[in-house]
Amino acid sequence: MNEIMEIAKEYGIPVVEDAAEALGSTLDGQGMGTFGDLGILSFNGNKIITTSGGGALISDNEDYIKKARFLATQARDNAPHYEHTHIGYNYRMSNVCAAIGRGQMEVLQDRVDQPEV
Ligand SMILES: Cc1ncc(COP(=O)(O)O)c(C=O)c1O
Repeated sequence: MNEIMEIAKEYGIPVVEDAAEALGSTLDGQGMGTFGDLGILSFNGNKIITTSGGGALISDNEDYIKKARFLATQARDNAPHYEHTHIGYNYRMSNVCAAIGRGQMEVLQDRVDQPEV
């Protein structure tokens, strides 16, 4: 990641870091998923923690997150009726899955600390 980010910085390339399987792991003390301009995490059932499906997009760039949230929630215009001037998606995580995920976050460190079998 350090080499990728160095090259990306030199050439002005935005990096989307696919950390789907890496939640809970670190490199030089920094959490995986936090190196790129955007990071993605998977909460699919085969991952270290799960919401049954879905994942998360993470960034410290508020504009990226605002845009992603807009696109992921059908890209509705600010109108009392359904009106769209952008193509949007229905990618929001349900409240129920999010609640499961919040509970799962509490066991993340235990899972990381588990000895290999
Ligand atoms: C590196 C990587 N990217 C993306 C994915 C896809 O994640 P999801 O199953 O949540 O779509 C996986 C799943 O295993 C993965 O390992």
